[in-house]
Amino acid sequence: MNTQELEALHILQVYRRTPVVFERGEGAHLFTGEGCKYLDFISGVGVAALGHGHKGLADAIGAQARTLLHTSNLFYHPLQAEVATLLADRTGLDRAFFCNSGAEAVETCLKFARRYWYTQGATTRTKYVAFTHSFHGRTMGALSVTWDDHYRAPFAPLIPNVVFADPTDVAGFDALVDDTTAAIIVEPIQGEGGVRPIPAAMAAAIEAACARTGALLIADEVQSGSGRTGPFLHSQALGLTPDLIALGKALGAGVPVGVAMFSNAVAAAASPGDHGSTYGGNLLACRAALVFLEALSSPALTASMAAASNRLFSGLRAMQRRLPAITDVRGAGLMVGVDLAYDAAPVVAAAFERGLLINRTSTTVVRLLPPYIITTADVDAALPLLEDAIVAGGPAQ
Ligand SMILES: Cc1ncc(COP(=O)(O)O)c(C=O)c1O
Repeated sequence: MNTQELEALHILQVYRRTPVVFERGEGAHLFTGEGCKYLDFISGVGVAALGHGHKGLADAIGAQARTLLHTSNLFYHPLQAEVATLLADRTGLDRAFFCNSGAEAVETCLKFARRYWYTQGATTRTKYVAFTHSFHGRTMGALSVTWDDHYRAPFAPLIPNVVFADPTDVAGFDALVDDTTAAIIVEPIQGEGGVRPIPAAMAAAIEAACARTGALLIADEVQSGSGRTGPFLHSQALGLTPDLIALGKALGAGVPVGVAMFSNAVAAAASPGDHGSTYGGNLLACRAALVFLEALSSPALTASMAAASNRLFSGLRAMQRRLPAITDVRGAGLMVGVDLAYDAAPVVAAAFERGLLINRTSTTVVRLLPPYIITTADVDAALPLLEDAIVAGGPAQ
């Protein structure tokens, strides 16, 4: 039996996979066993930030595997503190908790927002204010602050005391935040919900609501963070000052890494035994994060990311002028959404047939999350393929 037949028998059927088996990657390209080549503009949903087959990452994790991979959190090892120190510098929040995925990082933030108020005796201060179109992950807590009923309904009842505000309705949001609010949770650019940046007016309202009520702010930067949009956090571009930050995806460049960053004030509420993770922050994960953070500190990489982003946005805006089917081009840096007047699924399939990997979110949105190593030449190669795919994937004339 081939891979697809075996999977049909033995893998939980929760994914709609494109019928292709990738066996190798190099830079911004993926290859099948038969040698078919694809230009990767989704990077494993925003993860393979350094591209595929990155020599520095491969050498570092190979050497780490030969030295020591895992000790558990019963003991110290040298790398967690090293990563945490770099993240404190990058995020402005002093303390890290290491876990293995974005959802776990969000879960950690949700738990410790409540822990903070519990410690102060404010045991009824348990409400979370989230946003419509939010996506925070699939664990029960993260799902509870995820908006789309499609993800939620089969798993109800979820945790109580969650309300959703419309990111474009400041007055409605203000009415929801009060002195029973433990935390507001926001993706500075909503990813799965359709690459929707939080409007500046809402960012200001969030800051004001936190100041007015004392509610904590959780920034879910799992997709928008780790440098994808330019600054290390997209919160920084919006003027948000979170108390807790969830990170994941690109931070491990392909190795599973999740991190919750804490302000010292929230961290002070934590006691030994409150939380934990067997794998969290093991040497493999930390080594990968160190390679990623070092790569991101290279001015050459950030300059080439900015150049690729500018080329991508200007190319897409020019395409929008040619194709009325493109209703919006939005996002920042290398997190881009192209909203269409029709379902984007056939467009994604047409792009695949042309050798370009992209994906769809929020029904009508083509999402582009290319690896950070993408070049302007890669952008120039991708744009005509995407344009053809948008035309080919549209409704029959
Ligand atoms: C904003 C955001 N938060 C959390 C998650 C969940 O991350 P993971 O799939 O690593 O659990 C995602 C994943 O897409 C995400 O985009």
